[in-house]
Amino acid sequence: MHIPDRPRRSALYLPASNAKAIAKARTLPADIVILDLEDAVAPEAKVEARAAAVSAIAEGGFGPREVAIRANGIDTEWGADDLAAIASSKVDAVLVPKVSSVSDIDRYQSLLADAPQGMQLWAMIETCASVFALDKIAARSADTRLSLWVMGTNDLAKEMRAQLTPERTPFLPFLSMAVAAARAHGVAILDGVCNEFRDLDVFSAEARQGLMFGFDGKSLIHPAQIDPCNAVFSPGEDELAWARAVIEAFALPENAGKGAIRVEGKMAELLHLDQAKRLVAVAETIAAAG
Ligand code: COA
Ligand code: MG
Repeated sequence: MHIPDRPRRSALYLPASNAKAIAKARTLPADIVILDLEDAVAPEAKVEARAAAVSAIAEGGFGPREVAIRANGIDTEWGADDLAAIASSKVDAVLVPKVSSVSDIDRYQSLLADAPQGMQLWAMIETCASVFALDKIAARSADTRLSLWVMGTNDLAKEMRAQLTPERTPFLPFLSMAVAAARAHGVAILDGVCNEFRDLDVFSAEARQGLMFGFDGKSLIHPAQIDPCNAVFSPGEDELAWARAVIEAFALPENAGKGAIRVEGKMAELLHLDQAKRLVAVAETIAAAG
């Protein structure tokens, strides 16, 4: 059973070229901050953004938040310099775009050869080609730094020429396949962004859909999305009460050695006990982080 060390409910992107946004991110309740060098940064600002991201990491001040820098792809004119700069920083993770194959992971892994041992490799899953390689890509987490995926639904929509509607119908098979592949190999997985940041009802519905699909959390583009996102991905009171009841029931002497028991009129099996323990552990981690 894998119990995450830290909550990963909300991951806020911001352009690393935006100094004000970086300063603000140090105070926001996002579990993860992603300093972006890629899509959110115009070509003429790329070099400056790279320097700003690296110096923001050196300055610190992000508290308990996990921090990642999203690099430009290794085949772009900025990729190699981004990777070199990030590898020599103390950032928690490097997020790399458009990972489509095992060889992409292996390439990034070797570029991080001299990076601090704890630096994680996170991958954007956002290309049509990746759809057919999900299991093999996730399996590379066994002996590389790969530990987390972030869905890139905007890029996927662009490549597929599909429409990104609030229901996300064209993407649903891909979302569940990605969650299954990630879980099969113990990789954490975050849902894509919701471009709608003024209408928080639309946002919350999409976040709940991500929760239903099994994502650990969701990537975000605007501070207003953080609180509703954390609310959706935190275990609810009812769920926690049920989890505690299952744990207590299995601990009763009369239930010792049983695989399936009755809890509050419903069947609970040992697999539900595992789920209940994980839920309580997640809630405790969130509570401890304040
Ligand atoms: N992270 C941190 N702070 C942010 C932020 C973010 N992602 N987005 C906005 N803010 C800040 C603004 O700097 C502003 O701060 P201020 O009140 O101190 O001036 C405040 O929040 C309100 O911003 P607002 O006016 O509502 O947004 P905007 O219209 O200026 O910007 C976006 C809208 C979408 C351009 C902006 O939110 C953004 O750049 N998001 C991230 C985009 C990104 O990284 N994309 C890559 C992954 S898809
Ligand atoms: Mg992209």
